[in-house]
Amino acid sequence: MWLSCTPKYAVASFSRQIFKSYFHVLGRWRCNVAAFMPEAAGFEGVWDRSALQDFSVSDSESFWAAAARQRLSWIRAFHTVQDCDLSRGQIRWFEGGKLNVSVNCLDRHVHTCPERVALIWERDEPGSEVKVTYRQLLEMTCRLGNLLRRRGVKRGDCVTIYMPPCPLAVASMLACARIGAAHNVVFAGFSAEALAERIRDAQSSTVITVNQGVRGGKLTELKATVDAAVHNCPTIQQVFVAMRTENPVAMTARDVAMEEEMLKEDVVCEPAAMDSEDVLFLLYTSGSTGKPKGLVHTQAGYLLYAALTHRYVFSYHDGDVFGCVADIGWITGHSYSVYGPLANGGTTVLFESTPIYPDPGRYWEMVQRLKINQFYGAPTAIRLLLKYGDQWVHEYDRSTLKTLGSVGEPINTEAWEWYYRVVGDGRCPVVDTWWQTETGGICISPRPSDPDAEIVPGMAMRPFFGIKPVLMDTEGKELTSNDTSGALCIAQPWPGMARTIHNNHQRFIDTYCQPYPGYFFTGDGGYRSKDGYYQITGRLDDVINVSGHRIGTAEIEDVVNQCSAVAESAVIGYSHDIKGQGVYAFVVLKKDVDIQEADLSLELNNMVSTKIAKYASPDFIQFVRRLPKTRSGKIMRRVLRKVVDRDLNRLGDLSTLDDPAAVEEIIQGHRELCGKQQSS
Ligand code: WTA
Repeated sequence: MWLSCTPKYAVASFSRQIFKSYFHVLGRWRCNVAAFMPEAAGFEGVWDRSALQDFSVSDSESFWAAAARQRLSWIRAFHTVQDCDLSRGQIRWFEGGKLNVSVNCLDRHVHTCPERVALIWERDEPGSEVKVTYRQLLEMTCRLGNLLRRRGVKRGDCVTIYMPPCPLAVASMLACARIGAAHNVVFAGFSAEALAERIRDAQSSTVITVNQGVRGGKLTELKATVDAAVHNCPTIQQVFVAMRTENPVAMTARDVAMEEEMLKEDVVCEPAAMDSEDVLFLLYTSGSTGKPKGLVHTQAGYLLYAALTHRYVFSYHDGDVFGCVADIGWITGHSYSVYGPLANGGTTVLFESTPIYPDPGRYWEMVQRLKINQFYGAPTAIRLLLKYGDQWVHEYDRSTLKTLGSVGEPINTEAWEWYYRVVGDGRCPVVDTWWQTETGGICISPRPSDPDAEIVPGMAMRPFFGIKPVLMDTEGKELTSNDTSGALCIAQPWPGMARTIHNNHQRFIDTYCQPYPGYFFTGDGGYRSKDGYYQITGRLDDVINVSGHRIGTAEIEDVVNQCSAVAESAVIGYSHDIKGQGVYAFVVLKKDVDIQEADLSLELNNMVSTKIAKYASPDFIQFVRRLPKTRSGKIMRRVLRKVVDRDLNRLGDLSTLDDPAAVEEIIQGHRELCGKQQSS
């Protein structure tokens, strides 16, 4: 029942099915499938890339139906391809279908190639990697699935996973999928309070963690953080603890020694037959309010989209080693360290370390040692490594590399050129991939599977199959010409998109569907060049991007305002040469507060680190007597941004300000603060 066709047959048959529908729609057409699906070279082909792209958008139902039939193993076939109404936030794909995601990621590959390496766990110490085959990963997943079931986790429950990238974290995700529970992976750099907030919102009764994390040669007390978090989470009944290090940790009656208990379980675990639209996972991300939102992804559509984008954006071929260095706590880790590569039967790297441990050659030494073919990382790391110089790259053999990917934030031209020329020796296409937690997978990116595709440095370029990006003007009208900028929306649904926000569908509608009715609003601005290529120009809301980590300025303000000395605050992002954006906080103190500013800055930084995460902690805290506000009391963040960007000639119209003199004071204070930081 779980058997799928061999990859070669799958591709040929996939193309044939699509051809049939396309032929039906457009009549006779002859081109070459090898142009966009290189692994199908030799097949008597029918397509070129742009024909398939047009078809995938103009008849997206036929396209996705053929893809879903060919790429996924179904327990029961779907009867309806899609039932979507973007204006109401209703998104449903492949209804009537039943499948199991873990079976798609494991069993069908175990059947054909059990000893193929599924995971390469690149542990913190270079040279200590661990390889896990598909057979071993299935065994691990089944034991854990049985353990979760025996300990009362049921279909529809949500399990929180607070672990660094490691095989047991992947097995935990897949074990949830196997028994029909949703998972909620929380980045292991988040503080106890941030973790607790996410556990409470997800109403988890089970957390899976490790005793300690190891990163950059340092230990982090993850179990202790979980203990502090669950103290404030009444729903939690049990904490599974895996041992990443040999150091014992205090265990309570609530805690379960995970590996020991797994050994007692059977290696066969009956997979749950899940409906296409059952929840696969929640993943919390920041929005423009103080409360993070739990985006919900479902089974079939998400998996299909992750698998297809992984194969075609990166030109992934069977036998390749795929190196995505993102943490599994982010959507990039979900889609391109775990689900995409495993659905494709690929070999994927789980990176536990940092780009500069033990030295700035780490990535490239790893590429040489593990023979990585596709490397996928964040611009912030590229900018950091660029500063250390080319010798760290040249020292290692990178000849296995075929594609270089970038994700999470705009990549500036200098970083793009360095990545392309120095890391890739000018041989490997750089794919600047634009997407979001909400989109499930890559939506705009150059596609190297088209060998002739032009790539312009720093541009995300072209939509993926089935994606129709549009730009909107301030009146909400679609901008149809080229060489134009506007709000980036996607005009029709695709299977990978998030379905809702956990427990708050209205927020989903208000954020993504209401701003431009009938379209999905991304929150980003975009530019379409005269050649029709897309470039992402940055967020249009109060979300900033620090080292590729998304954070709402309102979340930081919420924490700062909790300090008893603070009357109000305004947080903005400013341009930072390595992090992309840094955090700058303007703080107004309550009257008669008698405290040294330096002490208070320290306290505020600590508060943000312990309530959110270290990366959200402000780089600058400027104490001001008042904030620039409109007469109706709205803080003019635009003015604050211009002050910090030293763009004083373009402060704009200040006549609506309640007290224009506030701006002069702020400019002066900003100069003094920068002077102080430079001299210290
Ligand atoms: C930004 C990460 C420019 C964008 C996968 C988006 C980018 C947010 C790019 C999503 C890119 C992501 N160029 N900006 N190639 N990729 N972004 O949810 O602002 O953590 O809305 O998903 O990152 O961040 P998220």
